[in-house]
Amino acid sequence: MRRGAKRTTTGSMRHSDHPSALDQWSALLDWYERAGVCSFVADEPRDRFAETEREATRRRPDGSAASARTQPQPTARPAAAAPPAMGLPMAEHGRSDIEDARSKAASAQTLAELQALLTAYTGCGLRQTAKNLVFGNGAEDADLMLVGEAPGRDEDLSGEPFVGRSGRLLDRMLGSIGVARDAVRVTNTVPWRPPGNRTPTPAETELCLPFTMRHIELVRPRVLVCLGSPASRVLLRSDEAITRLRGRWLSVTTPNGLEIPAIAMLHPAFLLRQPGQKRWAWRDLLTLRERLAELAR
Ligand code: URA
Repeated sequence: MRRGAKRTTTGSMRHSDHPSALDQWSALLDWYERAGVCSFVADEPRDRFAETEREATRRRPDGSAASARTQPQPTARPAAAAPPAMGLPMAEHGRSDIEDARSKAASAQTLAELQALLTAYTGCGLRQTAKNLVFGNGAEDADLMLVGEAPGRDEDLSGEPFVGRSGRLLDRMLGSIGVARDAVRVTNTVPWRPPGNRTPTPAETELCLPFTMRHIELVRPRVLVCLGSPASRVLLRSDEAITRLRGRWLSVTTPNGLEIPAIAMLHPAFLLRQPGQKRWAWRDLLTLRERLAELAR
């Protein structure tokens, strides 16, 4: 029974007891909350698959259309103009935006300078809906660096990466191979929380990539771990599914030519949803432990 509606002793709804508009709104908000919707960012939905596809077509040298499998489905009504709070659509992050991000990132000589640059950076629309910049934390000269996907709600509120549920699992994962969380450097592919915890778009990760790469260059880790699909794809320059990519030693080459051994691993948030996959994560952790032991010899 909806809130505000009363039943008679026979159980039937009385006409005069229709819920008020306020009750109906309140019930709707309760329903959204129970469904996990925690932030409202726009009145109209946006088809990010179609945006990504349009951008892929635009970038194809011959401008050919996308494959039928990935072709965006026609929508019932034309896409609404994007409100600024949703972040810039992909096509608006053009080459010059990326060049600008590259030259800004390359100018940072220290992590503090890089953080200050990102604090002032307005090129990425994600910052408009985020509460805080989540730059990164941990040892500034760590041998091991981890790059995750994007800050979530807890990270957005605290300004620190991996402090929520997946962060706690990450701490336990590292602990299981004898690595203390504060001995490693941790950052994300994008430093602002995407609205509603959606996956950052390829355009957003590409735009933030120069800052992530500079972060890596300034830390100069000896081993890099890419956590989850977006980080693995953008850093390892691969289209392979994370389930195939994980567990193999590859390498990341930064813009200044630094080549770092890198491994993709399943993201802790994925492991929380699919605990059965932890066996693969454990395997990868052992592979990582072996590499770290070799470096320590
Ligand atoms: N998930 C991530 O990928 N990064 C965080 O910082 C938190 C959760």
